[in-house]
Amino acid sequence: MFSSLEKIHNPFYRSLTAAVTLGSVITFTGAVVIGITNPKNESAYQAGVYASLLGMGCGAVLGLVQTPKQNQPSDSITWKDWRDFMVVRKVKESEEITSFYLQPKDQDIIPNFLPGQFLTIKLDIPGQSKPIIRTYSLSDYNSPCNYYRLSIKREPAPKGLDVMPGIASSFMHDQVQVGSIIPAKLPSGKFVLDVEKSIPAVLISNGVGITPMISMAKAVTALNPNRSIWFLHGARDGTFHAFRDEIKAVAAENPNLHLHFAYSRPRPEDDTYYQSVGYIDTALIQGLIKQEAEYFLCGSPSFMDSIRDGLKRANIPENLVSFEMFTKASKTKTDSAVDEVSTDEEIEIVFNQSGKTAIWKADAESILDFAEANDLSPAYSCRQGICGTCECKILEGEVEYQQPPTYQVSKGSVLVCISKPKTSKVVLEL
Ligand SMILES: Cc1cc2nc3c(=O)[nH]c(=O)nc-3n(C[C@H](O)[C@H](O)[C@H](O)COP(=O)(O)OP(=O)(O)OC[C@H]3O[C@@H](n4cnc5c(N)ncnc54)[C@H](O)[C@@H]3O)c2cc1C
Ligand code: FES
Repeated sequence: MFSSLEKIHNPFYRSLTAAVTLGSVITFTGAVVIGITNPKNESAYQAGVYASLLGMGCGAVLGLVQTPKQNQPSDSITWKDWRDFMVVRKVKESEEITSFYLQPKDQDIIPNFLPGQFLTIKLDIPGQSKPIIRTYSLSDYNSPCNYYRLSIKREPAPKGLDVMPGIASSFMHDQVQVGSIIPAKLPSGKFVLDVEKSIPAVLISNGVGITPMISMAKAVTALNPNRSIWFLHGARDGTFHAFRDEIKAVAAENPNLHLHFAYSRPRPEDDTYYQSVGYIDTALIQGLIKQEAEYFLCGSPSFMDSIRDGLKRANIPENLVSFEMFTKASKTKTDSAVDEVSTDEEIEIVFNQSGKTAIWKADAESILDFAEANDLSPAYSCRQGICGTCECKILEGEVEYQQPPTYQVSKGSVLVCISKPKTSKVVLEL
């Protein structure tokens, strides 16, 4: 009974359910006892009624004190490292985003995840010397969870650059089909929305940044529908707007989910689908949100920079603003000033496994960049200290982080994507 109560998030319904259940059990037990003993004394019947009432009262209190529980990966089956998943559905969501529904190959259960978390996947891509590891936000929410959905944007080569288009995203779009097997790690990540809270949540995204927002909006609708959610999304036009019908269907069921779509270049046929023309900016946000709220941002680096600056100027406290970057932001002038490394002393970097030693270059942004510049190709995904893919053992010396890692680094290891050498010699198991 306790575990069933934990699943009811509305305190009134939880209390009512517990009161009715406990009251019914005591009434039924009392009726059976009275039926068997057939007492002559009327006070036995009165005692039965009082016991039922007392049971209902205790149930009501129990329902109130019992707190609901959010599903954690640790609640159910977990796994170490990689587990094989099969693609069971592939759905085109927009001009550039396609969803992949994954179920475990072993057909066993999978743990739920916290809305906003991501999955790290490993792809064996022909022509690549080693598996390509990438992270993708979980873009759906269902409880109990029987599949994971990833929604992946095809990454073209940047305009004007003669380079290959995105390796993993092109492979997913072009080669991965229903039946393909993809190894994945456990869901993880700290960009999560706590569904228990009552403070309104404002979810702001553009482009493929919509993926964690869908999961968050659906989780709140399922688990705490009284909470106000604002879902603000920017897209070029209707053809680039993924999940439009899906989120509208959720909002049709949840009067506390408010949608606002901003199209920068709407087509005539998009007419009824968007609420404003242009980009989402702080003026738009302030026009819509009139009360204290917490903010979740995900989108292109320039979009997030401008919204974060705007929220700061609007005196929104930093602890009410969370964000996730899918790609590393370009460096600002202030960043490079902080990153200056003294070139007075030569710093030796030893890549132990590859048998390579190189002298550190002050303009390298991270040890990962430096390793790549020296023709090594360490595994990486986020390049921001989020996913742990680049974690490697440090055998000698010390490094310093350019930003605090979000990923919990194991003792004796470092994340090379966000670190630089701190001592004159650093030996890494790379
Ligand atoms: C926490 C997190 C969650 C994420 N969630 C999602 C999600 O839900 N959906 C999603 O689509 N993505 C998501 N991403 C991004 C995703 O992990 C990948 O980064 C993305 O798919 C690109 O990977 P790729 O292998 O296709 O591109 P890469 O091969 O890594 O290339 C990236 C870009 O660099 C360009 N490029 C290649 N070579 C060069 C060069 N020499 N110089 C300059 N540019 C070059 C490529 O053309 C491409 O445009 C997420 C990332 C993080 C960190
Ligand atoms: S690549 Fe993700 S933590 Fe370094």
